[in-house]
Amino acid sequence: MTKLDRIFSDRISDVPRSFIREILKVALDPSVISFAGGLPNRELFPVAALKEATCKVFDTQGRDVLQYAGSEGHAGLREYISTRYREKANLDIPVDSILITSGSQQGLDLLGKTILNEGDAVVIEEPGYLGAIQAFSLYRPRFLPVPVSGEGMDPVALRSALSSRPKLMYTVPNFQNPSGITYSDQNRLELARILEETDTLLIEDDPYGDLRFTGHAQTSFKELLPGNTILLGSFSKSLVPGLRLGWIVAPPALMQKLITAKQATDLHTSHFTQGIVCQYVRDNDADEHIRMIRDVYGRQCQAMQNSIQRYFPAEVTYTKPEGGMFLWAELPLDMAAMDLFELAVRDKVVFVPGDPFYVRGNRHRTLRLNFSCADVDTIDVGIGRLGKAIRELMERGAEQ
Ligand SMILES: Cc1ncc(COP(=O)(O)O)c(C=O)c1O
Repeated sequence: MTKLDRIFSDRISDVPRSFIREILKVALDPSVISFAGGLPNRELFPVAALKEATCKVFDTQGRDVLQYAGSEGHAGLREYISTRYREKANLDIPVDSILITSGSQQGLDLLGKTILNEGDAVVIEEPGYLGAIQAFSLYRPRFLPVPVSGEGMDPVALRSALSSRPKLMYTVPNFQNPSGITYSDQNRLELARILEETDTLLIEDDPYGDLRFTGHAQTSFKELLPGNTILLGSFSKSLVPGLRLGWIVAPPALMQKLITAKQATDLHTSHFTQGIVCQYVRDNDADEHIRMIRDVYGRQCQAMQNSIQRYFPAEVTYTKPEGGMFLWAELPLDMAAMDLFELAVRDKVVFVPGDPFYVRGNRHRTLRLNFSCADVDTIDVGIGRLGKAIRELMERGAEQ
């Protein structure tokens, strides 16, 4: 208890702290190999092209982009996003249904602010994205976790959760954070049919969709369930996260409320950074850049699977992501990833134990491994260290 405890809101006291931030402190030691972060690979940032775009923006629209601007976002950038949906995903998304946000993380907060009253039910993936759990927790909802596994979300568990009439259902159907799982077309269709009969709004959070390095694209929920779907997008993984640019695609009635929430929160997202990205996509081939990211992540993901095959005991199962930045492993029964974490830190390798990605239970046996930031040789050394730690933990268990 400190003198300040009395002043904190119940709202903030209930929000889980990001355990990942604590882990990242350990990862600052250069002798530690980290699979814990959730960062895009900084070596791939197009720094020179962004610098050039920035200078051009200053030269040609300096006073415009440094002035206050409309809450909806930069007209040129919204136009680009709308065109890209049409060309890449065959989705008809009118410019008016796009609201630019300060990262898709802000999209989650604005949705919580606009839709959730205390105690409202929210379906969340299990395991689910920690940032969404944190963002919604501020509005004190009742989480209804529904398991996701190889094919996607469990339809039987979803039907049961829907009996509580949730207002929102949060999903990351492409290369999910944390598991790397992609919902199959059949699973998407089944979930869409179930939701069609309800007034629950589905959030399709898709920051990784562009980063597919194998397999074929699945149908978007926005196409399968247009009236009930809210799409979230981001430039963080396909370009850079530091400019903090994302967007929400929402139906008109919801859009009006979201704009009010956006005005109350920060008036508008930086017009300057929006201008930079708009200039960058005009002067550069954004797809070529994305192909380069996919190639690198695809090689690193494959290298991680090869090393897991080589060093992990056969009892450990793991996902085989078709894109994104994460792979998810599951230890044998009776083992806890938190126990493995202690041994791994000693052996100078870190990962994120599954616990923060669940809203119920603890001492889970799952772990998240990030492959976007380490090169192939480092991945091999790190997974080798982790394999040794897993075997040691298994032997300890067998002795007890
Ligand atoms: C599933 C998911 N949604 C949203 C975000 C937040 O992204 P942004 O940088 O656009 O706020 C992340 C970031 O890691 C994420 O993994």
